[in-house]
Amino acid sequence: MRLTEIYLRKREELEAVERALEEAVLSDRELLEETSLHLLKAGGKRIRPMFVLLSSEFGRGDPERVRAVAVGIELIHMATLVHDDVIDDAQTRRGRETVRSKWDNRIAMYTGDYLLAKALSVVTKLEDPRVHRVLSGVIVRMCVGEIEQIRLFFQIDQSVSDYLRRIRRKTALLIAASCGLGALAAQASEEAYRALYAYGAFVGMAFQIRDDVLDLTGSERELGKPPGSDLRQGNLTYPVLYALQRQDLRGRLTNAVERIRNGLHAAEALEEALAIVRSSGGLEAAESLADRYVAKALDALEGLPDGTTKRDLAEIAKFAGRRSF
Ligand code: IPE
Ligand code: IPE
Ligand code: MG
Ligand code: MG
Repeated sequence: MRLTEIYLRKREELEAVERALEEAVLSDRELLEETSLHLLKAGGKRIRPMFVLLSSEFGRGDPERVRAVAVGIELIHMATLVHDDVIDDAQTRRGRETVRSKWDNRIAMYTGDYLLAKALSVVTKLEDPRVHRVLSGVIVRMCVGEIEQIRLFFQIDQSVSDYLRRIRRKTALLIAASCGLGALAAQASEEAYRALYAYGAFVGMAFQIRDDVLDLTGSERELGKPPGSDLRQGNLTYPVLYALQRQDLRGRLTNAVERIRNGLHAAEALEEALAIVRSSGGLEAAESLADRYVAKALDALEGLPDGTTKRDLAEIAKFAGRRSF
């Protein structure tokens, strides 16, 4: 499999990122270190650091600056996961108890804030104000995306554009920043920065659409959390919105969603809603939407010089749209 080869090719750099991540969360406050390490040691794909490392290959290197960006971005990602699990009342993450479930919501809030602050501290290594401008802009928009998600919980009249706008903010822009800032940290050209940022934004859309499909189709073992979590929380993702547009299904699905919301035989209502969505063609439509974003990501790479890096980025884009974990 090509993907494992790419991870193998970048193994040493990823290991250095891993060590730097551990170092970054060390604290004289035992509890903050413990909660952060709990999530860090649970694993994760480290796909954002991978994007940073690969994109940096279009520039002149400087491994330390590139690593600082990779670590900073993964810490931002981790912070949002800890907070996201509070919003979603999630019990499990990466196959382990969530911080909010092992400790509590208050501790999860401060763990998230702590990780975010550590991220900012790590990226101070880069004196380029553009890096800080991009990162703070992304963090602000991630908050907007997550707040929008809460506002639209259980809103059956929301549009597909509402959905696309919020996944762009909550997920795609951090991946765009990973690619763009990898190039910037390595002093790549302005053209490379722009192409990679655009590539990352498209890949990020495919990545989240796929995540939302997996939440409806994956097993607990594959997902590291129970399937159907989005619907249970009221997060109506693309396949659900697609099913709601089908006049023959809309009534029954609306009714099931209402019962989930009111907690009336919620487990049965969830099963019913999941069955309707799975039979609606919404999953297939989501897959083809993800494929279209992958195609746009590949287009965005066009102007970059050919070679291993470009091939690897193309491979990861395809993985993002079709992944099963
Ligand atoms: C999970 O991200 C949150 C989304 C944006 C879908 P990842 O799927 O990258 O999570 P880890 O880091 O591998 O656990
Ligand atoms: C992505 O959304 C979370 C963030 C961008 C913080 P999800 O809610 O789909 O992520 P998972 O499925 O819990 O990992
Ligand atoms: Mg979640
Ligand atoms: Mg999800």
